[in-house]
Amino acid sequence: MSILKDKNILLGITAGIAAYKSASLVRLFIKAGANVKVVMTPASKEFVTPLTLSTLSKNPVYSSFTDEEDDNQIWNNHVDLGLWADLFVIAPATANTMAKMANGVCDNILLATYLSAKCSIYFAPAMDLDMYKHDSTKASFEKLTSYGNKLIPAGTGELASGLVGEGRMAEPEEIVAYIENDILDQLPLRGKRVLITAGPTYEAIDPVRFIGNHSSGKMGFEIAKAAANLGAEVVLVTGPTHQKITHHLVTVKPVITAEDMYNEVHKHFNTSDIAILSAAVADYRPKNVADEKIKRKKPRLLLS
Ligand SMILES: Cc1cc2nc3c(=O)[nH]c(=O)nc-3n(C[C@H](O)[C@H](O)[C@H](O)COP(=O)(O)O)c2cc1C
Repeated sequence: MSILKDKNILLGITAGIAAYKSASLVRLFIKAGANVKVVMTPASKEFVTPLTLSTLSKNPVYSSFTDEEDDNQIWNNHVDLGLWADLFVIAPATANTMAKMANGVCDNILLATYLSAKCSIYFAPAMDLDMYKHDSTKASFEKLTSYGNKLIPAGTGELASGLVGEGRMAEPEEIVAYIENDILDQLPLRGKRVLITAGPTYEAIDPVRFIGNHSSGKMGFEIAKAAANLGAEVVLVTGPTHQKITHHLVTVKPVITAEDMYNEVHKHFNTSDIAILSAAVADYRPKNVADEKIKRKKPRLLLS
């Protein structure tokens, strides 16, 4: 599960040739489980159509302050857009838009949204080699990062002009990975290893009977989920349970008996930063486990 699941992502698109990659970016965000809205500069509509982006994002696309076609013009509220977003990703970011962002210019809806937004802002520059190297572009990078915006560095390669060098927008997959890692890095348990035990243990009496308990495992699984959502790498050692967990930071180690649990826990204990032992481990186990089902000969079965 991606850390972007259920995040509201506002994608800003400007008039660079790499705008054609923005459609793939929308798809990747949607695939990661995010809600996506798109805001465009008017010039960028020459490079990729709002229809493509609204279809892929399943949301209206905004490129002007008002809905021009309506007799009763409706304000495309850039303040609300900025407040809606958990993340604002500007990709591609042209030299022009970055210079405007760096200087508080606010002459289109993308720029007005940028100035209103309170969320994390990422920008992925894309331009020709000489534009990228220009001192004014470097000054924009410096100013924008000094404001707390995050620069997703451009790559090196063949550019649309035919020149080879720096300025190529990071690939959509790289942009998604960059943002995911950046969010994970800010989580309080990032890099910590957490060992959690959950559920009951079953102690065999014979091949068909066991001593168990009613532990559901729910608490341990919820703790595992919470720790993983805080960025921890979790090893979840669990006795038999119906609970399920799918999280890329959680490794589940199923066990049956208290002894299995003890052995599995000891494999991970020394390399863990935190251990939360929430399993309902059996207090007793039969001294001898019968190889075959114990026949019901007497009214009482004595366990030893
Ligand atoms: C074919 C073509 C490709 C362009 N590619 C880029 C580019 O990759 N990066 C860039 O900064 N400007 C590029 N430009 C220039 C921008 O489109 C121009 O500066 C525009 O005013 C930017 O508008 P915006 O920042 O409001 O979207 C390109 C222009 C054309 C005609």
